[in-house]
Amino acid sequence: MIKEIALIKEGGIVALPTETVYGLAGDATNPKAIEKIYKLKNRPNTNPLIIHVANLYHAKELAHFNDMADKLASNFWPGPITMVLPKRDNSPIAIEATASMDTIAIRIPSHEIANKFLREAGIPIAAPSANISNYISPTEAEHVREAFDVPIIDGGKSVYGLESTIIDLTEPKPIILRHGFITKDAIAKVFECEVKDTNSNKILAPGMMKKHYAPNTLLRINATSLENGEIGLGFGEIDIGQRNLSPRGDLIEAASNLYSMLRALDSKAKQFGATKIAIAPIPSIGIGIAINDKLQRASFCHPSLDS
Ligand code: TXA
Ligand code: MG
Repeated sequence: MIKEIALIKEGGIVALPTETVYGLAGDATNPKAIEKIYKLKNRPNTNPLIIHVANLYHAKELAHFNDMADKLASNFWPGPITMVLPKRDNSPIAIEATASMDTIAIRIPSHEIANKFLREAGIPIAAPSANISNYISPTEAEHVREAFDVPIIDGGKSVYGLESTIIDLTEPKPIILRHGFITKDAIAKVFECEVKDTNSNKILAPGMMKKHYAPNTLLRINATSLENGEIGLGFGEIDIGQRNLSPRGDLIEAASNLYSMLRALDSKAKQFGATKIAIAPIPSIGIGIAINDKLQRASFCHPSLDS
């Protein structure tokens, strides 16, 4: 890890494992590193990055924390939740990293390697998911290797397998911008107040755009059997195809398998002469809400699949 830390400090880019997905990491205080990240991902530089730090002390150097943020931090950090907060005026973060916004998205990852990396590097790290923009996020080192020629720290399979929950704490009431492993209900319990779902009037996270993270092959969701020209992704007893997200119907297992199975089916589709991936229904409870949210966005733009 020493080599990768030295590289990051020189403005280089490294792929870092986290508990959610792999990130494409660079020094968040270095505009050149940030520019490299946007270029590598082919990501519009108007779309701000998440800043990763090792601990709350460093997080508070970057943003103004309110009571809600303190409460969430003590309940869920380190872990798979990102908070959007007002950025400090004297923040050392390159303005390119936050796309010149006056807010900043911050997260303290719980993955042992990610946390060690952040502690030893001692600088805030910008790390978007290590995928080319709009393709499926990576949950294994191999997924990153397929897309980028950068040093990769292999931390095994990401345990959660879905991007962090993003919550906007800059309004009087918390607003979920992106669904993830930490659910709206879990957050509402901590606050003992209403947590809003994002509305389309306010930006902000591209995870909110209708089409996002799609495989190249069309998707058909809520499928209970296979039609001609389809390969299938089952769940529980609805075992409709080549892969099953969780034969025992466990949503946590399904979330951690989702991206790697979608990638596998996407690359196998042609070989099987298939033009579509059919996906079994996933119950919309707990992490199932985030899974369905991702699947709905990934299947959007294919109107024939909407029926
Ligand atoms: O789990 C994760 O969050 C992963 C791992 C690597 O930590 N990272 C990740 O980053 O998913 P990325 O760049 O793929 O997604 C970051 C999201 C984007 O949707 C971006 O628009 C949103 O965070 N975001 C960043 N700054 C924001 C801000 N100030 N206000 C609202 N949304 C923001
Ligand atoms: Mg991403």
